[in-house]
Order: sequence, then structure tokens, then C-alpha cells
Amino acid sequence: MAFLEISGLRKRFGALEILKGIDLELEKGGFLVLVGPSGCGKSTLLNTIAGLEAITAGEILVDGRPIGDLHPSKRDIAMVFQSYALYPNMTVAGNMSFGMEMRGVPAEERKAAIDKVAKVLQISHLLDRKPSQLSGGQRQRVAMGRALVRDPKLFLFDEPLSNLDAKLRVDMRVEIKRLHQATGTTIVYVTHDQIEAMTLATKIAVMRDGEVQQFGTPAEIYNNPANLFVADFMGSPAMNLLQATIERGDNGSVVALDRPEGAPLKLPVGTAKGALDAYVGKPVVFGIRPEALTDPDGADRNARNVSEHACLIDVVEPAGSDTFAITKLGRKEVVARLRADASIVPGQTAQLAFNLDKAVYFDPSTQLRIA
Ligand SMILES: Nc1ncnc2c1ncn2[C@@H]1O[C@H](COP(=O)(O)OP(=O)(O)OP(=O)(O)O)[C@@H](O)[C@H]1O
Ligand SMILES: [Mg+2]
Repeated sequence: MAFLEISGLRKRFGALEILKGIDLELEKGGFLVLVGPSGCGKSTLLNTIAGLEAITAGEILVDGRPIGDLHPSKRDIAMVFQSYALYPNMTVAGNMSFGMEMRGVPAEERKAAIDKVAKVLQISHLLDRKPSQLSGGQRQRVAMGRALVRDPKLFLFDEPLSNLDAKLRVDMRVEIKRLHQATGTTIVYVTHDQIEAMTLATKIAVMRDGEVQQFGTPAEIYNNPANLFVADFMGSPAMNLLQATIERGDNGSVVALDRPEGAPLKLPVGTAKGALDAYVGKPVVFGIRPEALTDPDGADRNARNVSEHACLIDVVEPAGSDTFAITKLGRKEVVARLRADASIVPGQTAQLAFNLDKAVYFDPSTQLRIA
């Protein structure tokens, strides 16, 4: 049995159903990341687990025990809120110590826990300050520290790094990963940050309008998105999603993409995508991530089905470690990710390699992935 089990969870505010039957489970020591557009119900879901919101229907089990009827203080869950509140008249150390004092943790143990966590969060030099003397990012780290000094069954984090600058955010992400690996705690974590989701999660749940669109490992969600919403939502820059048609070619099915000039581009779908045979003569949405569309020398050498074609390059965007190139296919702008030193000039054609092992195909009417 999973450590955290959520089944058929519904939450209504008045007539409005905000969570519409959520099923999720997380193994002990797992790291579940919730992602989804603003307002889809991520914080509400965390709040129901913490016990701050009563549930309308369904069940939440932690370690085999239903917690729905337990008072929040009895759930042994630590939460860092999206909008956290520190005690203004207490120092940073006092804020972190308070919960432990309430639970009767001896002073020496409290100090050791605070010192350890403060070091991880890079706030050791702030322990004697009051919250009003801290920056937003520092306050956010204190709020996190307050949760981390505990040893609860479950940690809930609601966008804990959202107020931090880019550099500190990366540092903290690595620290959270290290902490999770070292302590094996079980975590449910909300973020808008794609990299955080991919690097921290053992499981990701992509939510939309109070429903889970897909629940799986980061690799499953990234490589095999269940539908167009997930494909479009996960990944930055986003997956190219192009109108296309499946046709019968001499050696199996091909996917045909309109081009602004000349005949449509035809790419072999490959034998692994047999489900597409049923779509011959029909429209599909062809999905290819920018990194699967590269300069030929940058293409994955282990890929079986790589197809090279000359494409007219509209825009070139050097981004330091990579260069992004924009071309037009399937009546849309398509982003290709090239090596930084790839020789490429806007307004001229360049040879691009399509890694079709990594391509995905969707039914435009059901929005579901076909292959
Ligand atoms: N107490 C409440 N009463 C009525 N509606 C609420 C209440 N709390 C939240 N909602 C609504 O529920 C929906 C989900 O809100 P929630 O805060 O869970 O979204 P979220 O996914 O965390 O969004 P964000 O990414 O912006 O933080 C929103 O439409 C919100 O307006
Ligand atoms: Mg929220």
C-alpha cells in the first residue's frame, strides 16, 4: 500500500466544484510534484491533505490511516504555505523554534535542529533578526526552515521558492533535492517551475480545472504526454504541436506537414508507431520537442529514425548554451534547438535533423495521444 493515498477526492466551495475526483498515490520517501495552470486547485489539494479544508467526498490515507477526520494538529504533517506568515515579534530562531517548544523538544535539540536547517537554507547569519528586517526571499526561507526543523510523516510545500531570485532558486532546489535524498522524507510540492518539477519529482501530477490530466514519472510525462494539454504544458520551450496528415508512403506511413513554400514535408513515422496506420488520410497533431529537431551533427546518434531536411530559417536566437532557430511548418512557427556553434543564418535554408523516435502524435478531436 502506498504511503499517501488519495482516492475520489472532491472539494466544493458552495456550488463550485474545485476538485473533481482526484486519485493519486505516493510511495514512502516519494516526491510528488503538482503542476497546472493558476486556479486549477493545487493549493486546495494541499490544504485538504493538511486538514485546513474539509473534503466534500473521497478519502485521504497516510500510512494506511484515513486522516479525513483528524484535526490538522494531529496529522503530523508540516506545510509551507504559498502565502506564509511569520510571527512578527519573534526572531528568525524563535520562529523556527516555536513549534518544537510546543512539542516539548529539549533546548539543546532545538538549537541543533535550527543550526542544521539554517545552514542548508543559508540563513544562519539572520537567526537573531525579526521578520520585518528580512527580504521577501529571506522570509520565505525562514518559513521553509520552520517546517524543516520538524520530522513529520509528510511535508507539503506550496511554491516555496517562488519569491527567490534565479540564482538562489537553483541553490535551494539543489538543497531540497539533497535533503530529500539524505532524509528520505515524503513530500508533496507545488511549483510553476518546469525544471523544479522535472528535477525534484519522483512522480508528477499535471492538473487542470480540478482534475488530474496525467500522473506519472517525470520521464513518462515528458516523453509520453497523455494528451495535448500535458504536451503543451510541460517543457520549456514548449513542444512544437503541428497540424499534419498521415499518408501511406512506399515504406509505411508518413506524416505530411504543410510548408509556406513548395510541397509538404513528408517524414517517415517509423515502425514503432503502428497505431498511426489507422489514421491514413486523416489529420493528426504532430508533436516534436525543440531538442528533437537539431542541426544534423547535434542529432542523437542512438536514434533509429532520424530524417534530415532543408528548412527555411526565419529567426535565430543564440541562448548561450544552445541556439534556437525558428522555421515554419504545419502553418505554425517551429522551434529547433541547435548547438551553440551551429552555423545558421536567418533568411537562408539550413539542414535540420528530425528525431522521429521522439515524435508523438495526437488525435485532434479527442486530444489524446495516438502514438
Ligand atoms: N475558500 C474558497 N472559496 C471559494 N473558492 C475558492 C476558495 N479557495 C479557492 N477557491 C477557488 O478554487 C480554485 C482553485 O484555487 P487554488 O488556490 O487551489 O488554485 P491553485 O492551483 O493553487 O492556483 P495558483 O497557481 O494561482 O496558486 C480557484 O478558482 C479559486 O478561486
Ligand atoms: Mg496555489
